[in-house]
Amino acid sequence: MMKTRVIAIDPARVDAPEARAALAEAGRVIAAGGLVAFPTETVYGLGANALDAAAAARIFEAKRRALNDPLIVHVRAAELAGGGPNAALEGLRASGVIGDLPGPMAARAGALIQAFWPGPLTLVVPRGARIPLTVTSGGDTVGIRMPGHPIALGLLAASGVPIAAPSANLFGHVSPTAADHVLADLDGRIDLVLDGGPTAIGVESTVLDLTEDPPRILRPGGAPREAITAIAGRQATGDAEAAGPLHAPGLLDKHYAPRAPLRVLPDLNALRSAYAAARANGHRAGLLLAEADRGAFSEAELVFSLGDDAADMARRLYAGLRALDDAGADCILVLAVRGPGLAEAIADRLKRAARR
Ligand code: TXA
Ligand code: MG
Repeated sequence: MMKTRVIAIDPARVDAPEARAALAEAGRVIAAGGLVAFPTETVYGLGANALDAAAAARIFEAKRRALNDPLIVHVRAAELAGGGPNAALEGLRASGVIGDLPGPMAARAGALIQAFWPGPLTLVVPRGARIPLTVTSGGDTVGIRMPGHPIALGLLAASGVPIAAPSANLFGHVSPTAADHVLADLDGRIDLVLDGGPTAIGVESTVLDLTEDPPRILRPGGAPREAITAIAGRQATGDAEAAGPLHAPGLLDKHYAPRAPLRVLPDLNALRSAYAAARANGHRAGLLLAEADRGAFSEAELVFSLGDDAADMARRLYAGLRALDDAGADCILVLAVRGPGLAEAIADRLKRAARR
């Protein structure tokens, strides 16, 4: 058991002297092969030097992650600011993070990078020679993304290496949207947590496989399908279930799950009956409710508010699952979510979290 240190950084003041010192320190831990959890705009990541196979292996060990579930490599494409997306791609290729992209793939990647980076879009492209197979779970492709969070970008700059980082939770558990969530799962198993407060988006990045034509969404997430399709020029199709077991190994199993069984009900009447039945059977049912639906459950004890719209719900969902678990709920009930954009990602996570 190692000692896990926590350093708080105000994301609005990453240039303050204390913040720079903290980031420099965290960068040294990464460069030395250690594990640092850090905030991104989606969820907290558990980072290690993506060029170091032994460091990446420590991520799998700390999370108890299945070895066939590849890691996302976080990059700071500094060239984006000056030379634009093509210079950024060329920089990633020259540094051995990605391989040679055929013309049409490079064109799509460039357009998507221009539109979404820094931000919640992970692109699956050919792996570069310097990324060890431990990171890609033996595959010839690598998932890359430039995160849109000042602490994540500061850590990338300070460490000077690309950072492999899955969500900073135990494998299969709910992803962390706050430093406390990271500690609840990983205290004593990692070196350092950079606490930058709660994350802004709250669900993970969209994972888009560019090695297929048309590109395939392996995991819906923070970047909406409609916007990706508009920019990629062709319809981004599919979901991980249709892609088959080898395509996105980590996405097929039960995932994002609280300890208490989760049930997703199709409408308010079904939710009311399920709640009444659970109570009648002596269960401590927890409810995840939109503000608008709270009035229908004014007598309920274990309620976590998901706010008013899809953005609120994405931001609050994982905290709500953890909070109801911690409050001792022995089952959790929630209304189904439908719709485009972020709602697709929320519906996907609810479905997986409900799987037993
Ligand atoms: O928002 C996010 O994506 C967060 C933050 C920390 O960046 N990261 C994250 O990582 O959610 P993780 O490991 O929990 O989920 C990434 C998923 C994996 O389950 C894996 O299946 C898929 O992305 N993935 C990564 N690399 C891949 C590859 N080369 N081919 C196919 N799928 C890949
Ligand atoms: Mg994860």
